[in-house]
Amino acid sequence: MESQNNTSLNPFCNGFLAKLFVMLTVLASLANADVYHQEFVVQETKITRLCKTKTIITVNGQFPGPTVAVRNGDDVVIKVTNRARYNVTIHWHGLRQMRTPWADGPEYVTQCPIMPGGTYTYRFKIENQEGTLWWHAHSRWLRATVYGAFIIYPKSGSHFPFSQPKKDIPILLGEWWNRDIIALQRQTQFTGAAPNISNAYTINGQPGDLYRCSSQDTVKFSVSPGETVLLRVINAALNQQLFFSVANHKLQVVGADAAYNKPFTTNVIMVGPGQTTNVLLTADQPPARYYMAARAYATAQNAAFDNTTTTAVLEYTNLRPGANSRPLMPQLPFFNDTATATAFTTQLRSVPSNNPTVFKQPDESLFFTVGLGLVNCTPGPRCQGPNNTRFAASMNNVSFVLPRRTSLLQAYYNNIPGIYTVDFPPVPPVQFDYTGNVSRGLWQPQPGTKLYKIKYGSRVQIVLQDTAIVTTEDHPIHLHGYHFWVVGQGFGNFNPQTDTAKFNLVDPPVRNTIDVPVGGWAVIRFFADNPGVWLMHCHIDSHLAWGLAMAFIVENGQGESQTVEPPPLDLPRC
Ligand code: C2O
Repeated sequence: MESQNNTSLNPFCNGFLAKLFVMLTVLASLANADVYHQEFVVQETKITRLCKTKTIITVNGQFPGPTVAVRNGDDVVIKVTNRARYNVTIHWHGLRQMRTPWADGPEYVTQCPIMPGGTYTYRFKIENQEGTLWWHAHSRWLRATVYGAFIIYPKSGSHFPFSQPKKDIPILLGEWWNRDIIALQRQTQFTGAAPNISNAYTINGQPGDLYRCSSQDTVKFSVSPGETVLLRVINAALNQQLFFSVANHKLQVVGADAAYNKPFTTNVIMVGPGQTTNVLLTADQPPARYYMAARAYATAQNAAFDNTTTTAVLEYTNLRPGANSRPLMPQLPFFNDTATATAFTTQLRSVPSNNPTVFKQPDESLFFTVGLGLVNCTPGPRCQGPNNTRFAASMNNVSFVLPRRTSLLQAYYNNIPGIYTVDFPPVPPVQFDYTGNVSRGLWQPQPGTKLYKIKYGSRVQIVLQDTAIVTTEDHPIHLHGYHFWVVGQGFGNFNPQTDTAKFNLVDPPVRNTIDVPVGGWAVIRFFADNPGVWLMHCHIDSHLAWGLAMAFIVENGQGESQTVEPPPLDLPRC
């Protein structure tokens, strides 16, 4: 009835005005949703850092790689050509990939790798996401140098929920090895020992002037007095959580992992590998040079870590001649300052647009232990872990093994048997005092390619529980294809009675990567509204290689909008 009325009353009903109206609407929607095209050529590039020249793998010869900058609602088409000597895939970290798991990128999970000489075009749509994400290789440890920023601006005509900053500055924190990264990985795999620590951290590819041969190329950002800039801090380091701070300047935190939060100010942020944090900085200090700096937040006991500090320089444009040449250094927390890390992460609160409805009762209540392990082996060169063992890691005692013949998604989609099983345990096979003194009999995980199947639309809760096996440690757990609410976190063993009562179902932070507190737990919730095969893993690459991962199958729902799209024709073959 309404529509009939509209027809008769609509002054645009017939004639020129109606056509003009339709045309304008179409133009407006075109301006709103663009198709973003980009070419990525993965290649070998000579580069000099820390007084040494070596060959690294890059995209388009750039390190860090090109920034992808799009708007919410855009279609993205990125053609990747592999001119390097290794297999490669690219993952769009934090992009939801609704119904397009084929474009997610983890090798042998959603696709076979792009072989040298091959190409693959990633096609996906940005659906209701805004903020800072990033992209990286998801193939062996190539992401050490193959990464870049992925920025999603609001749709044209809409705005940030804060006043428009004068500049937009991506800050990519990385980790640098003098050695070839694939050689390092092969050695680590062979010996079973922990990988050598890195030689430097980097800001936008540069270690900064506290390192040898690096001062010439220290990254510099200039700011005009009084202006506010947006720093998009991305932790792209392979294996290390980092503290980040800017001398004398307050950081106003406005977003994390492509979700806005209720703004709060802090002197220091902690960013886990895979995570991003957006902060506003106002140049309200005397005109001078100030260091921004990052160094390790390291929580494993008796484990070596890179204890160096990377810097870049924030320089005021109105410097007087003779102004300080040595920038002021911020005070960074001590490497094991868990109190500061926790004080920061527990201040994050989402804004309503991110959490219309956190459900009260989950349909799937899962409990996953996350932690290290040791596998006994015959003493020798392949058994160089502690006391003649090889390092391993697991979730619920399953040490994840990637298939080699085809990807999990292809096996699922095409019903190829023998690639995986769907018996990933929903709770630990044995319950124990997870963060206590764990008996040695529980230190050795079982290898397997076990998946967990969930129905479309399920309300899922996962308790992620750190263990004290080998050492307690802060693990940055990343879920592909989703972002989730972090409804609670704490230390020790999760207590379903007392801890559940304290959950934040009002304004929990929204993330795609959660740093599970060292010797503690975190609880995440999400709606299973994106069908496909989705990896969940520790974003410390050495832990991922040891098996700290599992994968979900989220089944199709009803109709096209709840069903995985057919695979693209150029999907690489194994
Ligand atoms: Cu950013 Cu599976 O990773």
